Amino acid sequence: MRPLKVFLTGASSGLGQALAREYAAQGAILGLVARREDALREFVATLPNPGAVRVYGADVRDADAMARAAEDFLGHFGCPDVVIANAGVSVGTVASEREDLDAFR
Ligand SMILES: NC(=O)c1ccc[n+]([C@@H]2O[C@H](COP(=O)([O-])OP(=O)(O)OC[C@H]3O[C@@H](n4cnc5c(N)ncnc54)[C@H](OP(=O)(O)O)[C@@H]3O)[C@@H](O)[C@H]2O)c1
Repeated sequence: MRPLKVFLTGASSGLGQALAREYAAQGAILGLVARREDALREFVATLPNPGAVRVYGADVRDADAMARAAEDFLGHFGCPDVVIANAGVSVGTVASEREDLDAFR
């Protein structure tokens, strides 16, 4: 069976990092996004197969940077099987409230 291909944002800490570790333990190919590229690289060095991971130091609000990351992942591995849009913060981001839209962005 071929490895699962997973593209995951917000992988430098928290839930995203835990998900990435779990997928890596299952032998998945990973594309990991976060702003702190150094933290991502430190984390990837602890995974069983760092060669199966592409790291993208990018802000998910930067559409050009996300397009570059997607193109790189597609070029190396093809279409992901799973995309997890996890990056973000929990505080003050109730998007249905008009005054929270700046925080949401
Ligand atoms: N923990 C909870 O109880 C809980 C509850 C409900 C929902 N959530 C949601 O689950 C997600 C993860 O939460 P968490 O508790 O694991 O948070 P966390 O530990 O703060 O992790 C957030 C991750 O998102 C990245 N990130 C934040 N803003 C980013 C941006 N603009 N561009 C790229 N990466 C960005 C951070 O990396 P960098 O700082 O390196 O960019 C980090 O890797 C969030 O979307 C949060 O809203 C969490």
